[in-house]
Amino acid sequence: GQHLLSVKDLSLDLINELFTVAESMRPYAERQKVTRVLEGAVLGNMFFEPSTRTRVSFGCAFNLLGGEVRETTGLSNSALAKGESLYDTAQVLSGYSDIIAMRHPQPGSVAEFAQGSRVPVINGGDGANEHPTQALLDLFTIHNELASQGKNVQQLSLTLLGDLKHGRTVHSLCQLLGLYRGLKIQLISPEALTMPTKYVDILTNAGHEVEIGTSLEQGLPQANVIYQTRIQEERFSSQEEANRYRGYFRLNKKIYSEHCQPNAVIMHPLPRDSRNDANELDNDLNAEPGLAIFRQTDNGILVRMALFACILGVENQLHQYERSVNW
Ligand code: CP
Repeated sequence: GQHLLSVKDLSLDLINELFTVAESMRPYAERQKVTRVLEGAVLGNMFFEPSTRTRVSFGCAFNLLGGEVRETTGLSNSALAKGESLYDTAQVLSGYSDIIAMRHPQPGSVAEFAQGSRVPVINGGDGANEHPTQALLDLFTIHNELASQGKNVQQLSLTLLGDLKHGRTVHSLCQLLGLYRGLKIQLISPEALTMPTKYVDILTNAGHEVEIGTSLEQGLPQANVIYQTRIQEERFSSQEEANRYRGYFRLNKKIYSEHCQPNAVIMHPLPRDSRNDANELDNDLNAEPGLAIFRQTDNGILVRMALFACILGVENQLHQYERSVNW
């Protein structure tokens, strides 16, 4: 099968092709037209770790192409809790599905699962390792947001902010950015939560101008895109240790207006931690035109529709199965 386990599997040509297909999905995602190109196909949506948008948008994307979705959520609800291996689970579930999306807390688990799968597997996040579809929708969002300001990706000055040690979305994004040359990237995190060296190396080897820092203000003025992340509390060895970093970098309207470029784009993979003592991206930014977080989630549907269509080889047949909208 043609799995998507890591962004390492992707070339720039493939990504550009995928983004063209993603744009072609817009009329269907925005309910101007209906396509049934995947009628009869089944997605196994296997989420063994909490998720809202990745799980639901995989399911919706498949439904919007006319396919059916079967899903399971939570490790404790599955036979994995009885000691069944990922290999056996994959053999069983792939017998019921045409394609599988999967999330699991263990790094490498989705790749292990894919070895037992008879159908393509898409990684929906494996522990602190990777989240390739998020990185794709993030890159798609960066392209679109810069284009809407009359800029292209070569003009990107990106600040990644927060828990860069555990954040799989920024790990995958760094790998994708390694396909470009000569960008400006600022990596701003608490001292103990810096970006792992292997991802910094990918950026520097690509010839990007990389700046590493530990203060919020240091990373803001030069950025045209700011990518805030949540402190990944579930990846720390204890809650006590995680609590030390809760609320470490808070981006709000005051800081945005004082330190950022006008209309700097603000992204976040979400969920944002909105508890009062965390609040890394304040609600007082909700009306800012630069706040792209919900355009980003909408883009997740386009990109995931494109992935399903490309992996299952139907990206050129959408019109053939098109129906009019009747509601
Ligand atoms: N961005 C993201 O992965 O969100 P969920 O955990 O809700 O899927």
